[in-house]
Amino acid sequence: MGVEYVSVQWNRQKKFYDAVLIGGVAAYLAIFGVLTKMLFPHVTDEIMLLRAFGTAAFLLLHIILCIGPLCRLNPKFLPLLYNRRHAGVTMFTLGLVHAALVVITYHAGGDTNPILSIFKGSPLAGSISGVPFQPFGFFALLILFLMAATSHDFWLANLSAPVWKSLHMMVYVAYALLVLHVTFGVLQGEGSPLYVVAVALGLVTVLGLHVTAARREVAADRENDPSTRREEAHSETRHSQSLVTPAATEDEFIDACAVADIPENRARIVCLSGERAAIFKYDGKVSAVSNVCQHQNGPLGEGKIVFGCITCPWHGYQYQPDTGASPPPFVEKVPTFNVRVRNGRVFVRPKPNPAGTRAEPARITESATSGKAGGLNL
Ligand code: HEM
Ligand code: FES
Repeated sequence: MGVEYVSVQWNRQKKFYDAVLIGGVAAYLAIFGVLTKMLFPHVTDEIMLLRAFGTAAFLLLHIILCIGPLCRLNPKFLPLLYNRRHAGVTMFTLGLVHAALVVITYHAGGDTNPILSIFKGSPLAGSISGVPFQPFGFFALLILFLMAATSHDFWLANLSAPVWKSLHMMVYVAYALLVLHVTFGVLQGEGSPLYVVAVALGLVTVLGLHVTAARREVAADRENDPSTRREEAHSETRHSQSLVTPAATEDEFIDACAVADIPENRARIVCLSGERAAIFKYDGKVSAVSNVCQHQNGPLGEGKIVFGCITCPWHGYQYQPDTGASPPPFVEKVPTFNVRVRNGRVFVRPKPNPAGTRAEPARITESATSGKAGGLNL
């Protein structure tokens, strides 16, 4: 976590995923080379290589972009998420080799500076009159370089989480630039419908998975939004009247869920005024913190309490449930929510406290769960 940076801890799982990654890339390059030689014998080795590395990088970028939504849709994909950093650095390296081969093959022979020559227009027949596509690749590579160079957690802590996350969200800008790069470049030059279909298929897959995962999350948020549930309950019981439950004011506590709905040492995720909170039950108490891990936005509510700390399911960052602060010497903090227990139900104040602020845990006394008079924590 945030205090000390140790070199990557190699475990069997990491080694396995890295072996699959490197093996997969090597197999792709070899198959691409053999097929090119068989199907397009006129293509020179340099061009075959630069195409092999360019398409390998582009394909790997698609896989990387699909991992996030796949994990949202099915937790079985989570192991891919833990190892995404190595895939990202490998993808950048492949893109860099492609760009270096392009510069050597197409730009190094003239009077113009090879880098400037990238911006001067395409040396490829058929695309000179079209959109100059190489600058798209150049700027995409620049973004991928910044991401690869700052991928270590050292940079996450030093740049601060919001800056690091904004930088890494630029992967979508890089992807858009690369779609333009490949569309205007290769499609213009080759004109093969196969390329058109492949790029379109990739785009549809990436967009489709993101939209599906987002829709699923919106539906889950709606399901877990206590105010929505109240509105629905009202409209069910009084459907003839257009009665809408007033939105909770900042100081109003919202009925979030039943204590019994939360498994011991686990959480229930609720959506409060658009913000996801994870309500944990542990040691006869209830506490709520933001659902968003400070590391890489992992869903804290899908983690569990380990040795008294909320433990993120993605990479194991830990937070104390009452303060939202990582145990010393670590420095990460998440916002907390004030909670109360009454009649066996958990009430949460929707306005989060600043990150690291202690919120008194609500005790689950017998009377608080059964609702006997005098035993209410509210
Ligand atoms: C300075 C940066 C870059 C330059 C100058 C550049 C230039 C080029 C050129 C000239 C081509 C056409 C090659 C040919 O078919 O003969 C090409 C194709 C391609 N580039 Fe780039 N590129 C750059 C960066 C990237 C990056 C970062 C990626 C992917 C991550 C990428 C992916 C591709 C792909 C997939 C193709 C199609 C390969 C094919 O022709 O079959 N490029 N690029
Ligand atoms: S997202 Fe990495 S530990 Fe939470």
